[in-house]
Amino acid sequence: MKIVMATNNENKLREAREILSPLGIEVISQREAGIDIEPEENGATFAENALIKARAVYELAGCPVIADDSGLCVDALGGAPGVFSARWAPKEIQCERLLEKMAGVPDEARTAYFRCVVAYVDENGSGTVTGDCHGTISHEKRGTNGFGYDPVFLCGERTLAEMTSDEKNALSHRGAALRQLSDVFQERYGASC
Ligand code: IMP
Repeated sequence: MKIVMATNNENKLREAREILSPLGIEVISQREAGIDIEPEENGATFAENALIKARAVYELAGCPVIADDSGLCVDALGGAPGVFSARWAPKEIQCERLLEKMAGVPDEARTAYFRCVVAYVDENGSGTVTGDCHGTISHEKRGTNGFGYDPVFLCGERTLAEMTSDEKNALSHRGAALRQLSDVFQERYGASC
């Protein structure tokens, strides 16, 4: 089956394709579907923002749509940057900003988690699935794979940026959410997806 992903973020799109294509779901980008909108993400939660994006693109797509809203929640910062992860600092210095804010925070207090909420909309209605990935914030950037805060997010001994994409997808928040999504689509559309 084909679905449109409501995003202009190439990294999210790549990871969604890596995770969903082996499960028989072809992911078309918003751009490939000819949809040039960027809805304002003014929700208070990941789920609200994901639904805003998915519903806006569904109005124009005419086939099932998914949208990912995700971010990093750091315990020592009261859950920040959370839903503001993309806007908290310019993209090029997001990791540095986080390391600055975490300066002096001891190892045992550096816990954090990534959350990914994927909203889906089709002719049967809408819903959301959620995936989390727990870890800790490192003391320096490590690794060159992935995107966003991956170089400072330790999952075990390595940061997500030190993992291959298959390793990251197997334990990431996005992987967890998208595997649940595939179960939802299997229920809705049968074994073909
Ligand atoms: P949004 O979902 O487009 O509002 O933005 C999510 C932001 O959270 C991204 O710009 C990244 O900064 C961060 N983020 C979300 N998922 C990941 C991930 O898998 N790795 C690293 N950073 C992420």
